[in-house]
Amino acid sequence: MSEQPQVHPVRDEFAANAWADKAQYEAMYQRSIEDPQAFWAEQAERLEWIKTPTRIKNTSFDRDNVDIRWFEDGELNVAANCLDRHLAHRGGETAIIWEGDDPADSRHITYAELYERTNQVANALKEMGVGKGDTVTLYMPMVPEAAMAMLACARIGAVHSVIFGGFSPDAIAQRVVGAQSRVIITADESVRGGKHVPLKDNVDAALTRDGTDVCEHVMVVKRTGGDIDWHDHRDTWFHTMVDKQALECPAETMNAEDPLFILYTSGSTGAPKGLKHTTGGYLTYASMTHQYVFDYKPGEVFWCTADVGWITGHSYIVYGPLANGGTTLMFEGVPTYPSHGRIGEIVDKHQVNILYTAPTAIRALMAHGDETMHSSHRDSLRLLGTVGEPINPEAWEWFYRVVGKERCPIVDTWWQTENGGIMIAPLPGAIDLKPGSATKPFFGVRPAVMDSDGNVLEGQAEGNLVILDSWPGQARSIWGDHERFVNTYFSTYDGVYFTGDGCRRDTDGDYWITGRVDDVLNVSGHRMGTAEIESALVAHDAVAEAAVVGYPHDIKGQGIYIYVTLTDDYEASDELKKELIQQVRKDIGPIASPDVIQWAPSLPKTRSGKIMRRILRKIAANECDGLGDISTLADPSVVDELIEHRANR
Ligand code: WT7
Repeated sequence: MSEQPQVHPVRDEFAANAWADKAQYEAMYQRSIEDPQAFWAEQAERLEWIKTPTRIKNTSFDRDNVDIRWFEDGELNVAANCLDRHLAHRGGETAIIWEGDDPADSRHITYAELYERTNQVANALKEMGVGKGDTVTLYMPMVPEAAMAMLACARIGAVHSVIFGGFSPDAIAQRVVGAQSRVIITADESVRGGKHVPLKDNVDAALTRDGTDVCEHVMVVKRTGGDIDWHDHRDTWFHTMVDKQALECPAETMNAEDPLFILYTSGSTGAPKGLKHTTGGYLTYASMTHQYVFDYKPGEVFWCTADVGWITGHSYIVYGPLANGGTTLMFEGVPTYPSHGRIGEIVDKHQVNILYTAPTAIRALMAHGDETMHSSHRDSLRLLGTVGEPINPEAWEWFYRVVGKERCPIVDTWWQTENGGIMIAPLPGAIDLKPGSATKPFFGVRPAVMDSDGNVLEGQAEGNLVILDSWPGQARSIWGDHERFVNTYFSTYDGVYFTGDGCRRDTDGDYWITGRVDDVLNVSGHRMGTAEIESALVAHDAVAEAAVVGYPHDIKGQGIYIYVTLTDDYEASDELKKELIQQVRKDIGPIASPDVIQWAPSLPKTRSGKIMRRILRKIAANECDGLGDISTLADPSVVDELIEHRANR
């Protein structure tokens, strides 16, 4: 495969002021690979340790003994690193700029204020009996209380599990049970695009499900004052509980390998996995990537448009920026409300310097034309970033030309929930940009391209993306199921971390991520397992069998295409399609709404009964000429029938 990408070389003025220029990147990268012990011992100094670590890297990717430890004899507290140590120098500076859904609503919260409020939340949690090692579930809107709750947990050594506010009661219940959370923090409602989402009602519904009686307390932030049910035995208002607390709360001494949080993400099989991230390595890595990848300078306003319910929000709304004493912008709403110009208007209003967003948001804006950006100037912007899925070169160029006015480098950052922080990205002072390529590995990251037999390919190559050795931000396990962790990431190829992504490396050594090679979909940058959606569907009486695949979608990147075989008692109808869509939304949440449903009298299967998804993907993508070998199918005629009635032409 050959490509002629338009290269945007690093500009000299940018490199001159950047944290790393080309020579510095190369020297630091070499050292990080050749002597990780020394490199990361130095980098750990960016944090304030109660006990400085002396054992730096102790990691094994050996399938029989996957064991990952960084800074294992070090002690520190994450909240103290994000708050206390900044008080003396920048207590009066803004830590969080909150921009509400309504453009008339915004707030600045200083480090001193965030410190006090976090301590109060921490004391409230303690009053509810939460201590070191206990889990707390957060199901919250994008409000400052979400960051306070995360930091409050970190302060007392509790482990937070944030659930994205778009998930359904069933999804909440599954995660509360998985994490065995005795406390949930939520809000009455969230507000997005002028609409209210009933968070507290969803929690109430979740807590009727089996196993959720482990939850004893629900603390409710009053966001809208909307109507909610109240259960005296377990519900308390956040403000009544928190306002009365002392402004000081000692920070618990934590070992570097104590868990900081659990975050659930979808895989190719089974229920979502709760990835376990720990304390010292995670914070070192979040802080360092935030500084170098975004070339973050003190005083700059950094805006990551993700939700705190995703890893991107954890690392680049909360932990990275605050560890670095930065100003982080948290936006409650959606980019298109009240008008398509909102993102640019927020940039102007708060003089944002760095904007980190997702390709799907860029494509949605682009679809409305350049005029969408005419309501703002965006002259404060210095750097742009993208994350979540491959960015198509047209969207890249539009982002560069129209949003950044050809002044701002774009960092295309590849990484995963499992990684804790950015893994492959062009450091903006060091690496020439190629639209569509995440380019080069971050310090300490050793990517490789492997063929399906487990051979590492050299030079220009295409295959599976693996990582050869550990980096500090890596997830250590799956909560309560280490075996699944080993099986998912370290068993496909022994001794390396398997990402689940395919990639290509070009003659310059730049990486181009081509998308998932497993049964995981990426819809608007949200990760979804086909197995999860299928099990939601077969739970409906009408469904005998279902197969879910992704297909190319102009805005979302991938859309959800579903083949359904009905049971004998049901007839295909538009009504039934609606019901099935509802079923998936109810089971998982609106983010998993199917785009296309095709009735399939039967599915293409091998003689051993395995569904051939490769064929279903081709039909969904409308690529019916390139189906490849179908002779191994039990009944090849099934395919003609599906092609004839395909829903996506
Ligand atoms: C999957 C991880 C932590 C980032 C947010 C999503 C895809 C992510 C890129 C990129 C191409 C990307 C991969 C990856 N992905 N960033 N810059 N270019 N693909 O985190 O939900 O854990 O999903 O998102 O397929 O495996 P996630």
